Amino acid sequence: MERTKIKELLERTDFGAEVCVKGWVRTRRGSKSVNFIALNDGSTIKNVQIVADVEKFDAEMLKLITTGACLSVEGQLVESQGAGQAAEVQATSIQVLGTCGSDFPMQKKGQTFEYMRQHAHLRLRTNTFGAVFRIRHNMAMAIHSYFHEHGFFYFHSPIITGSDAEGAGQMFQVTTQNLANLKKDEAGKIDYSDDFFGKPTNLTVSGQLEGELGATALGAIYTFGPTFRAENSNTPRHLAEFWMIEPEVAFIDLDDLMDLEEDFIKYCVRWALDNCKDDLEFLNKMVDNTLLDRLHSVVDTSFVRLTYTEGISLLEKAISAGKKFEFPVYWGCDLASEHERYLVEEYFKKPVIMTDYPKEIKAFYMKLNADGKTVQGTDVLFPQIGEIIGGSIREEDHDKLIDGMARFNIHPEDMSWYLDTRKFGTCPHGGFGLGFERLILFVTGMQNIRDVIPFPRTPNSAEF
Ligand code: 4AD
Ligand code: MG
Repeated sequence: MERTKIKELLERTDFGAEVCVKGWVRTRRGSKSVNFIALNDGSTIKNVQIVADVEKFDAEMLKLITTGACLSVEGQLVESQGAGQAAEVQATSIQVLGTCGSDFPMQKKGQTFEYMRQHAHLRLRTNTFGAVFRIRHNMAMAIHSYFHEHGFFYFHSPIITGSDAEGAGQMFQVTTQNLANLKKDEAGKIDYSDDFFGKPTNLTVSGQLEGELGATALGAIYTFGPTFRAENSNTPRHLAEFWMIEPEVAFIDLDDLMDLEEDFIKYCVRWALDNCKDDLEFLNKMVDNTLLDRLHSVVDTSFVRLTYTEGISLLEKAISAGKKFEFPVYWGCDLASEHERYLVEEYFKKPVIMTDYPKEIKAFYMKLNADGKTVQGTDVLFPQIGEIIGGSIREEDHDKLIDGMARFNIHPEDMSWYLDTRKFGTCPHGGFGLGFERLILFVTGMQNIRDVIPFPRTPNSAEF
């Protein structure tokens, strides 16, 4: 008999029909005469209830129906007597496809997330992680859908790169050399001539620079791919391997860019509210009971827009009024997450788009303002998360871009292909990068970025 997914089955009302469901046992309870088995197949957070009359089944087989076991069940779709759901299955045949012993690590309820991280290969079987990864899928669909609807082309920037894109972070080197016996030249420097690419290469820290080549030809592109940073940031917001979405658009200015950032994030959050209702309700109940309110409020509110300079003066006012921060605040400082969170969570109580940062603390490619001191960078700061987006209008003037490179000790000869965009038909353009896992953190209410990617890579951890 053909299998029906539980999500579909629970919506059916053709009671009396013969059905087949397959999935994993969440719980089994019952009396001497009847067993109730909650079965889940991952298609939805909801379980289907299987009703098994004890006398119809082999007692030894029934004993194998423990939490985590995998079953194939045939029976009749019947209207449920219990509250909660409409349909359940009155079993006529049960086959145990896979037994599951009491040493199943996900058996007990209420395990900590830390414990589940150590069993990341099995945590996917829990309600919470099922919900998180269904939402993650939905957010990927929302992103492609948004850009497709708005005329952006999905552009595949390379993962292996020969340039340190932008000094955004420490890079992971890619090599086929024998590390135990490195070939060196007379000066003792590593000789890359017979390495795979004939020169040093790394995993990308951003697809932006190649994205700019795409945008200044196709008009509007976005990348969506894995990104690697070997920074030793052991925080709940950093991964060594994460996914980034980087749209890049020709002919826009800073206001257009901020409009795009705001519209795009709201679209994604609205998509979650529209398409992930059951999973969000579950997470709201079990993980964070302010989640749904927070999602609705982001969709309904206008983001605050303020300059870095205005932000600094608000922070200085707070300090005068007695607010204590760990890190000092002064014009020119790189804002720490405590500063960002003060502005977003305490002062404005809504998302903030900050702009016009001192040129020293932002990347070389950001467009210099007329004041000569600040650049047209934007960070979108979110409650609970901090920085969720970083972006900018790009310096389109060839000579100013060279000046920017000099400030960061980047050699123009290493980036001639990038500079060519400014040499041949340069145009105003800009874009941003959204950290996919930070978006998922926000949308799920999870607290640790390691819990929103199936198999996290962090310092000293590359299991599974
Ligand atoms: O601010 P970042 O470094 O910006 C760029 O890479 C630009 N090239 C983007 C652009 O303009 N096209 O990174 C962008 C976003 C951050 O705001 C953050 O959400 C996320 O990427 N991010 C990380 N997420 C998880 N783990 C890390 N180690 C991250 N580093 C950055
Ligand atoms: Mg940034």
